[in-house]
Amino acid sequence: MSDSDRPLTYAQHLRLDRLLSSQERQSALKGQPAHDEMLFIIVHQAYELWFKLILFELDRIQEIFSGPVADDREIGQAVHGLSRIARVQKLLIEQLDVLESMTPLDFLDFRDLLFPASGFQSLQFRLLETRLGLTRAERLTYADKPYDALLSEPERARIAEAEAAPSLFDQVQAWLERTPFVSRAGYEFSAAYREAVLRALGGDQEAVRRNPSLAEEALEAEIAALDAALTRFKSIFDAAAHAKLAAEGAWRLSAKALQAALFINLYRDEPVLQLPFRLLSVLMDIDENLTTWRYRHALMAQRMIGRKVGTGGSSGFDYLRRTADRHRIFGDLFALSTYFLPRSKLPPLPEALRRAMGYSYAEKAP
Ligand code: HEM
Repeated sequence: MSDSDRPLTYAQHLRLDRLLSSQERQSALKGQPAHDEMLFIIVHQAYELWFKLILFELDRIQEIFSGPVADDREIGQAVHGLSRIARVQKLLIEQLDVLESMTPLDFLDFRDLLFPASGFQSLQFRLLETRLGLTRAERLTYADKPYDALLSEPERARIAEAEAAPSLFDQVQAWLERTPFVSRAGYEFSAAYREAVLRALGGDQEAVRRNPSLAEEALEAEIAALDAALTRFKSIFDAAAHAKLAAEGAWRLSAKALQAALFINLYRDEPVLQLPFRLLSVLMDIDENLTTWRYRHALMAQRMIGRKVGTGGSSGFDYLRRTADRHRIFGDLFALSTYFLPRSKLPPLPEALRRAMGYSYAEKAP
């Protein structure tokens, strides 16, 4: 019987020979075996396997958004893949608990042997950040080096390739910009909604001014915050103002995409907007999970090494904590909630538009 005729076994299918012989403790190689290095290796390997799956899912999701027009029938498939990514991320956050069963002293038994290897060298993590939409320009730097400085030449080439291709952020932005219904003959969402929100925010300012319990300083801070929110809101409908704020980093999405995202969120009860709404929600889940992971990882690093510098040469905890604030991809979708109005105050959609947006399966009664 030739090899290819033999019935497939569990071990062959999963290539267990390779997989299970890939845990080599540096501490054992150097003659000072540290028990917990096995846990450290396996947790990292499990991460890399899940990163591989995330990138694999992204291949299909990005393919769906790659044409000049995304087929609506396939958007459901994209949402499904994104939901899988979000679930995997939950697992990635929980895995940190397992690693934290290692104490800082257990870690010190082998940490010095790892220099200068570092999480900075996880190519797959960099690829997934980049493919989701984190750009080089938005990244924090460490030791004044580019973020891929610690990668090999071929790895840097893969990063460059990913950077040159449209990211999921770019693709979703283009898809949002094509959203129908936002502007139709006889209806401009921007005009209808802008007025309603300006009234609401103006009302909030009045309420703050009339609040007798606010000290002068607190009152001024609240008014300033509302002013900033107002300026940011107006910029969604004003190209020049939007360009200025985008240059300052206040918005990532284009004005057109922001308008569409607002529209989808506000009128998501319309059947045709339900899937787009789910898409935006799952992108927020992914952004939130990534941020949670960054923060949890930073805390874990602090617990393990305190204020020591990282093996890759960063400031360690401080750098990692700052990435949680700064390395957001779909943060604009969160910021938009500032401008949501209760359903009771939403400007109603014109009837003809509502009809165009509904599904009408029902046969007319005879
Ligand atoms: C004892 C456990 C760990 C400690 C103390 C730790 C510490 C650190 C530190 C200090 C950095 C900053 C870079 C540097 O200067 O080296 C870093 C970066 C990183 N680590 Fe960990 N880490 C641990 C576990 C993990 C695990 C389990 C993963 C999973 C893959 C991971 C993935 C990463 C990644 C992707 C980065 C780059 C983050 C970025 O630049 O945004 N780390 N780690």
